[in-house]
Amino acid sequence: MATVPDAPHPPDGPHPLDGPVETAAATPAGIFIVFEGGDGVGKSTQSQLLADWITARGREVVLTFEPGDTRIGATLRDLVLNPEWGDVSPRAEALMYAADKAQHIHELVLPALRRGAVVISDRYVDSMLAYQGAGRVLAPERVEQIARWATDDLLPDLTVLLDLDPADGVGGIEEKDRVEGAGADFHVRARLFFLDLAAADPAHYLVLPARTGIAEIAAQIRSRVASLLSAPAGTVSS
Ligand SMILES: Nc1ncnc2c1ncn2[C@@H]1O[C@H](COP(=O)(O)OP(=O)(O)O)[C@@H](O)[C@H]1O
Ligand SMILES: [Mg+2]
Repeated sequence: MATVPDAPHPPDGPHPLDGPVETAAATPAGIFIVFEGGDGVGKSTQSQLLADWITARGREVVLTFEPGDTRIGATLRDLVLNPEWGDVSPRAEALMYAADKAQHIHELVLPALRRGAVVISDRYVDSMLAYQGAGRVLAPERVEQIARWATDDLLPDLTVLLDLDPADGVGGIEEKDRVEGAGADFHVRARLFFLDLAAADPAHYLVLPARTGIAEIAAQIRSRVASLLSAPAGTVSS
Protein backbone atom coordinates (compact mmCIF):
# COMPACT_ATOMS: atom_id res chain seq x y z
CA MET A 1 0.00 0.00 0.00
CA ALA A 2 1.05 3.58 -0.41
CA THR A 3 2.51 4.88 2.82
CA VAL A 4 3.33 8.13 4.54
CA PRO A 5 6.68 8.12 6.33
CA ASP A 6 6.71 8.50 10.11
CA ALA A 7 9.24 11.33 9.99
CA PRO A 8 8.01 14.72 11.22
CA HIS A 9 7.31 17.43 8.72
CA PRO A 10 10.51 19.20 7.76
CA PRO A 11 12.04 21.31 9.02
CA ASP A 12 10.39 21.72 12.41
CA GLY A 13 7.61 19.17 12.82
CA PRO A 14 3.87 19.56 12.38
CA HIS A 15 2.60 23.11 12.51
CA PRO A 16 -0.77 23.80 14.15
CA LEU A 17 -1.88 25.78 11.12
CA ASP A 18 -1.36 22.74 8.87
CA GLY A 19 -4.61 21.28 10.16
CA PRO A 20 -5.31 17.55 10.19
CA VAL A 21 -2.87 15.42 8.24
CA GLU A 22 -4.86 14.28 5.25
CA THR A 23 -2.75 11.33 4.19
CA ALA A 24 -1.91 9.63 7.48
CA ALA A 25 -3.57 6.22 7.75
CA ALA A 26 -5.65 7.18 4.75
CA THR A 27 -4.22 4.88 2.11
CA PRO A 28 -5.13 1.39 3.22
CA ALA A 29 -5.30 -0.56 0.02
CA GLY A 30 -4.16 1.34 -3.04
CA ILE A 31 -0.89 1.17 -4.92
CA PHE A 32 0.80 4.32 -6.18
CA ILE A 33 3.05 3.97 -9.23
CA VAL A 34 4.83 6.89 -10.87
CA PHE A 35 6.61 7.25 -14.22
CA GLU A 36 9.49 9.70 -14.37
CA GLY A 37 12.11 10.80 -16.87
CA GLY A 38 12.65 13.46 -19.50
CA ASP A 39 10.42 14.39 -22.41
CA GLY A 40 10.01 11.72 -25.04
CA VAL A 41 11.33 8.81 -22.95
CA GLY A 42 8.10 6.81 -23.22
CA LYS A 43 6.26 7.69 -20.01
CA SER A 44 2.87 8.04 -21.72
CA THR A 45 3.44 4.92 -23.79
CA GLN A 46 4.44 2.75 -20.84
CA SER A 47 1.96 4.14 -18.34
CA GLN A 48 -0.89 3.35 -20.76
CA LEU A 49 0.43 -0.18 -21.41
CA LEU A 50 0.75 -0.80 -17.67
CA ALA A 51 -2.73 0.59 -17.01
CA ASP A 52 -4.20 -1.71 -19.68
CA TRP A 53 -2.41 -4.72 -18.21
CA ILE A 54 -3.53 -4.05 -14.65
CA THR A 55 -7.09 -3.33 -15.79
CA ALA A 56 -7.13 -6.66 -17.61
CA ARG A 57 -6.24 -8.31 -14.30
CA GLY A 58 -9.46 -6.92 -12.86
CA ARG A 59 -8.05 -4.14 -10.72
CA GLU A 60 -9.27 -0.53 -10.87
CA VAL A 61 -6.63 1.77 -12.38
CA VAL A 62 -6.55 5.54 -12.31
CA LEU A 63 -4.15 6.85 -14.95
CA THR A 64 -3.21 10.45 -14.30
CA PHE A 65 -0.45 13.01 -14.84
CA GLU A 66 1.27 16.09 -13.44
CA PRO A 67 1.06 18.92 -13.90
CA GLY A 68 -2.51 19.57 -14.88
CA ASP A 69 -4.89 16.67 -14.34
CA THR A 70 -7.46 18.59 -12.31
CA ARG A 71 -9.41 21.72 -13.27
CA ILE A 72 -7.23 23.89 -11.07
CA GLY A 73 -4.17 21.97 -12.24
CA ALA A 74 -4.93 22.63 -15.90
CA THR A 75 -4.83 26.36 -15.22
CA LEU A 76 -1.62 26.02 -13.21
CA ARG A 77 -0.09 23.91 -16.00
CA ASP A 78 -0.74 26.71 -18.46
CA LEU A 79 0.78 29.24 -16.07
CA VAL A 80 4.02 27.28 -15.64
CA LEU A 81 4.48 25.92 -19.18
CA ASN A 82 3.05 28.47 -21.61
CA PRO A 83 5.85 30.84 -22.74
CA GLU A 84 3.25 33.60 -23.24
CA TRP A 85 3.37 34.33 -19.51
CA GLY A 86 6.94 35.56 -19.92
CA ASP A 87 9.29 35.86 -16.99
CA VAL A 88 7.92 33.60 -14.24
CA SER A 89 9.76 33.93 -10.93
CA PRO A 90 11.40 30.61 -9.97
CA ARG A 91 9.71 30.79 -6.55
CA ALA A 92 6.33 31.46 -8.11
CA GLU A 93 6.94 28.58 -10.49
CA ALA A 94 7.82 26.23 -7.62
CA LEU A 95 4.70 27.24 -5.73
CA MET A 96 2.49 26.72 -8.78
CA TYR A 97 3.90 23.23 -9.32
CA ALA A 98 3.39 22.57 -5.62
CA ALA A 99 -0.20 23.84 -5.78
CA ASP A 100 -0.88 21.54 -8.73
CA LYS A 101 0.42 18.60 -6.70
CA ALA A 102 -1.57 19.49 -3.61
CA GLN A 103 -4.78 19.67 -5.64
CA HIS A 104 -3.94 16.49 -7.54
CA ILE A 105 -3.36 14.51 -4.34
CA HIS A 106 -6.48 15.91 -2.69
CA GLU A 107 -8.88 15.59 -5.58
CA LEU A 108 -7.69 12.52 -7.44
CA VAL A 109 -4.81 10.45 -6.02
CA LEU A 110 -5.85 9.98 -2.40
CA PRO A 111 -9.53 9.24 -3.07
CA ALA A 112 -8.46 6.57 -5.57
CA LEU A 113 -5.91 5.03 -3.19
CA ARG A 114 -8.53 4.95 -0.46
CA ARG A 115 -10.82 2.99 -2.80
CA GLY A 116 -8.01 0.49 -3.29
CA ALA A 117 -7.24 1.51 -6.87
CA VAL A 118 -3.85 1.44 -8.53
CA VAL A 119 -2.91 5.04 -9.30
CA ILE A 120 -0.42 5.52 -12.13
CA SER A 121 0.89 9.06 -12.44
CA ASP A 122 2.88 10.34 -15.40
CA ARG A 123 5.34 12.52 -13.41
CA TYR A 124 5.26 13.38 -9.69
CA VAL A 125 7.56 14.98 -7.10
CA ASP A 126 10.82 13.81 -8.69
CA SER A 127 10.11 15.87 -11.81
CA MET A 128 9.68 18.99 -9.70
CA LEU A 129 12.92 18.24 -7.84
CA ALA A 130 14.86 17.43 -11.00
CA TYR A 131 13.68 20.37 -13.07
CA GLN A 132 13.62 23.01 -10.34
CA GLY A 133 16.95 21.72 -9.01
CA ALA A 134 18.41 21.65 -12.51
CA GLY A 135 17.66 25.35 -12.88
CA ARG A 136 20.29 26.04 -10.18
CA VAL A 137 18.29 29.01 -8.93
CA LEU A 138 16.46 27.50 -5.97
CA ALA A 139 18.14 25.38 -3.30
CA PRO A 140 17.11 21.76 -3.99
CA GLU A 141 16.42 21.16 -0.27
CA ARG A 142 13.93 24.02 -0.21
CA VAL A 143 12.20 22.77 -3.34
CA GLU A 144 11.96 19.35 -1.74
CA GLN A 145 10.45 20.80 1.46
CA ILE A 146 7.78 22.56 -0.58
CA ALA A 147 7.04 19.49 -2.69
CA ARG A 148 6.84 17.17 0.33
CA TRP A 149 4.63 19.62 2.19
CA ALA A 150 2.32 19.99 -0.82
CA THR A 151 1.96 16.20 -1.12
CA ASP A 152 1.88 15.62 2.65
CA ASP A 153 4.82 13.24 2.24
CA LEU A 154 2.85 10.78 0.14
CA LEU A 155 5.48 8.59 -1.52
CA PRO A 156 4.99 6.26 -4.48
CA ASP A 157 5.23 2.51 -3.89
CA LEU A 158 7.22 2.36 -7.11
CA THR A 159 8.75 4.95 -9.40
CA VAL A 160 9.70 3.76 -12.89
CA LEU A 161 12.48 5.97 -14.23
CA LEU A 162 12.87 5.75 -18.00
CA ASP A 163 16.41 6.93 -18.56
CA LEU A 164 17.57 8.52 -21.79
CA ASP A 165 20.33 10.82 -22.94
CA PRO A 166 18.46 14.12 -23.47
CA ALA A 167 20.07 14.47 -26.90
CA ASP A 168 17.95 11.48 -28.01
CA GLY A 169 14.77 12.81 -26.39
CA VAL A 170 13.84 16.44 -26.83
CA GLY A 171 15.77 16.97 -30.06
CA GLY A 172 13.51 17.61 -33.00
CA ILE A 173 10.62 19.18 -31.12
CA GLU A 174 9.97 22.35 -33.06
CA GLU A 175 7.55 24.24 -30.87
CA LYS A 176 9.01 23.98 -27.40
CA ASP A 177 7.28 24.82 -24.17
CA ARG A 178 9.25 26.50 -21.39
CA VAL A 179 10.76 23.27 -20.07
CA GLU A 180 11.49 21.70 -23.44
CA GLY A 181 13.20 24.89 -24.56
CA ALA A 182 15.38 25.21 -21.46
CA GLY A 183 18.68 24.16 -23.03
CA ALA A 184 20.88 21.07 -23.18
CA ASP A 185 22.74 21.57 -19.88
CA PHE A 186 19.48 21.89 -18.01
CA HIS A 187 18.24 18.56 -19.35
CA VAL A 188 21.55 16.82 -18.64
CA ARG A 189 21.44 18.02 -15.02
CA ALA A 190 17.81 16.98 -14.69
CA ARG A 191 18.66 13.48 -15.97
CA LEU A 192 21.45 13.12 -13.39
CA PHE A 193 19.11 14.35 -10.67
CA PHE A 194 16.54 11.67 -11.56
CA LEU A 195 19.26 9.00 -11.50
CA ASP A 196 20.55 10.19 -8.11
CA LEU A 197 17.07 10.03 -6.60
CA ALA A 198 16.67 6.48 -7.87
CA ALA A 199 20.11 5.42 -6.65
CA ALA A 200 19.33 6.71 -3.17
CA ASP A 201 16.25 4.48 -2.78
CA PRO A 202 16.55 1.39 -5.01
CA ALA A 203 13.76 -0.46 -3.17
CA HIS A 204 11.23 2.00 -4.56
CA TYR A 205 12.68 2.60 -8.04
CA LEU A 206 12.97 0.69 -11.28
CA VAL A 207 15.43 2.34 -13.68
CA LEU A 208 15.25 1.20 -17.30
CA PRO A 209 17.07 2.41 -20.41
CA ALA A 210 14.35 4.11 -22.43
CA ARG A 211 15.28 2.98 -25.91
CA THR A 212 15.17 -0.75 -25.57
CA GLY A 213 12.06 -2.06 -27.28
CA ILE A 214 8.67 -0.89 -26.07
CA ALA A 215 7.49 -4.48 -25.44
CA GLU A 216 10.63 -5.40 -23.52
CA ILE A 217 10.39 -2.35 -21.27
CA ALA A 218 6.71 -3.08 -20.66
CA ALA A 219 7.53 -6.67 -19.67
CA GLN A 220 10.17 -5.54 -17.18
CA ILE A 221 7.74 -3.08 -15.63
CA ARG A 222 4.99 -5.71 -15.41
CA SER A 223 7.30 -8.13 -13.69
CA ARG A 224 8.16 -5.59 -11.00
CA VAL A 225 4.56 -4.43 -10.61
CA ALA A 226 3.29 -8.02 -10.36
CA SER A 227 4.98 -8.38 -6.99
CA LEU A 228 3.29 -5.20 -5.76
CA LEU A 229 -0.12 -6.45 -6.91
CA SER A 230 0.25 -9.82 -5.25
CA ALA A 231 1.59 -8.52 -1.93
CA PRO A 232 -0.97 -8.44 0.89
CA ALA A 233 -2.09 -4.87 1.72
CA GLY A 234 0.29 -3.12 4.05
CA THR A 235 3.35 -5.21 3.29
CA VAL A 236 4.80 -3.79 0.11
CA SER A 237 6.27 -0.54 1.36
CA SER A 238 9.39 -0.73 3.45
N1 LIG B 1 11.15 2.14 -26.13
C1 LIG B 1 10.95 3.00 -27.14
N2 LIG B 1 11.77 2.97 -28.20
C2 LIG B 1 11.59 3.81 -29.24
N3 LIG B 1 10.60 4.74 -29.31
C3 LIG B 1 9.76 4.83 -28.27
C4 LIG B 1 9.89 3.97 -27.13
N4 LIG B 1 8.92 4.28 -26.24
C5 LIG B 1 8.21 5.29 -26.78
N5 LIG B 1 8.70 5.62 -28.00
C6 LIG B 1 8.22 6.68 -28.89
O1 LIG B 1 8.78 7.90 -28.41
C7 LIG B 1 7.83 8.96 -28.54
C8 LIG B 1 7.59 9.58 -27.15
O2 LIG B 1 6.91 8.62 -26.33
P1 LIG B 1 5.95 9.11 -25.16
O3 LIG B 1 5.40 7.88 -24.53
O4 LIG B 1 4.99 10.13 -25.65
O5 LIG B 1 7.03 9.80 -24.19
P2 LIG B 1 6.79 10.79 -22.95
O6 LIG B 1 5.38 10.61 -22.49
O7 LIG B 1 7.79 10.35 -21.94
O8 LIG B 1 7.09 12.17 -23.46
C9 LIG B 1 6.59 8.35 -29.15
O9 LIG B 1 6.64 8.59 -30.53
C10 LIG B 1 6.72 6.88 -28.84
O10 LIG B 1 6.07 6.07 -29.78
MG1 LIG C 1 3.90 12.02 -22.22
